[in-house]
Amino acid sequence: MHSNVYLPTEFLSHVESFLPDELNMEDFISACQRPLRKSIRVNTLKVTVEDFQRQAAQKQWQLTPIPWCEEGFWIDADESRVPLGNTAEHMAGLFYIQEASSMLPPSALFDDCDTSYEAVLDMAAAPGSKTTQIAALMGNNGVLVANEYAASRVKVLHANIERCGVRNVAMSNYDARVFGGWLPEQFDAILLDAPCSGEGTVRKDPDAMKNWSLSSTQEIAQTQKDLIESAFHALKVGGSLVYSTCALSPEENQNVAHHLKETFGDAVEFVSLSNLFPQADKATTAEGFLHVFPQTYDSEGFFIAKFHKVASSTPPTVKKRLGKFPFSPLSRKEFSDVVTHLKQSLAITLPDECTLWKRDSDIWLFPTALEPMLGQFRFSRMGIKIAEQHKKGYRWQHQVATALADSNVSAVSLNTDDAREWFMGRDVRPEGISGKGEVFVSYKGFVIGLGKWVGNRVKNGLPRELVRDKNLF
Ligand SMILES: C[S@@+](CC[C@H](N)C(=O)[O-])C[C@H]1O[C@@H](n2cnc3c(N)ncnc32)[C@H](O)[C@@H]1O
Repeated sequence: MHSNVYLPTEFLSHVESFLPDELNMEDFISACQRPLRKSIRVNTLKVTVEDFQRQAAQKQWQLTPIPWCEEGFWIDADESRVPLGNTAEHMAGLFYIQEASSMLPPSALFDDCDTSYEAVLDMAAAPGSKTTQIAALMGNNGVLVANEYAASRVKVLHANIERCGVRNVAMSNYDARVFGGWLPEQFDAILLDAPCSGEGTVRKDPDAMKNWSLSSTQEIAQTQKDLIESAFHALKVGGSLVYSTCALSPEENQNVAHHLKETFGDAVEFVSLSNLFPQADKATTAEGFLHVFPQTYDSEGFFIAKFHKVASSTPPTVKKRLGKFPFSPLSRKEFSDVVTHLKQSLAITLPDECTLWKRDSDIWLFPTALEPMLGQFRFSRMGIKIAEQHKKGYRWQHQVATALADSNVSAVSLNTDDAREWFMGRDVRPEGISGKGEVFVSYKGFVIGLGKWVGNRVKNGLPRELVRDKNLF
């Protein structure tokens, strides 16, 4: 029991005013005071759920399926020696530590997706739990634009994208109000996981409500309304939009959804989520939204609404000044040279839906589906950097290991001590072997990086931002 959870009286009376009849305040308060069950999502870009379950069993991690996400599990693990986030499995990107209810919005977005989405926008993306979930649901295909306004949160977003082996993302760093004007009717699906008051997060952060007031909630709601309008303009006709918050007040939730309908009328269709998973009806509102209270599924509080766009909207006009695009596409000859060398040196084949671009001596792989947006919008980072070209050939980059190699590639298998050294950024000397050139390194069958043989030593190629310095597995 968290006795120190701060729940202001004004907030509790507000909750009482909108709590559905079948729920009661005693349960609400006691759920808020219970610590959260820990949960994870298996990253299927790296490992199948079945293989992960086998690995978890070996580690004596108890997994309980989360009903609304096939890859999600509540986890019971002994973290007294090694926190889950420092395990080799986590560092290798096999799973993401993600609160169970936060898996709902991407599940809702992909619920009725019978074909694959070509272009998806995640408007408020950091730290990236839902970006990486969406990328996995897209199977790394198409393009996923991941936007985050707060510059300080972009680094962690990128680190998570990189750790999880995502290669179909283009990142941007704007107030997401820009999308409607800049990229009108470009996206098949959009997630707006909006900035909010965080009323649903007290079980994780007992101080979450320290600065709460009804007026601040109303202020945030204004931003949310601007953002949802922008999202709707950016959505293609026939596309799906999911709006979510970890807030509980209707001001930030139902009212924002109704604002969308009032603004765009018949172009907006509410999509009921009552059949998203068994027992979804326990949280479904009259409009078909999910209003999840902490006691409903013993999780954080959350709100999820889904819409279809059934008619076109007139976006705001903007004057675009983009500056010079610093990349140029590789010529056919340059492209085939990269393909040949990548095959020869690392036995890697490029994915079908990609193009290669050059910026000075750096070679980047962009998802093909990004091309219609190039020249329309300024991204801060697109796709993955695969090589630096130099006189004698190519220096392959870490993301070739994390985003292009699978567990069938040939790799030097590290023991636990060496794998730990590797993640701490140090060179390793695998016992009894030596080699030449660039080489993948793996741990328990999963590729964790790219190094270079120097005699019997493998020089560490882990990017600085991924190096960890303490308390590893
Ligand atoms: C609820 S969090 C997103 C969590 C993220 N979707 C995830 O699952 O990991 C909301 C994010 O919106 C960002 N944000 C705040 N104002 C914004 C704006 N005007 N446009 C875009 N993002 C904004 C915040 O910095 C924060 O990272």
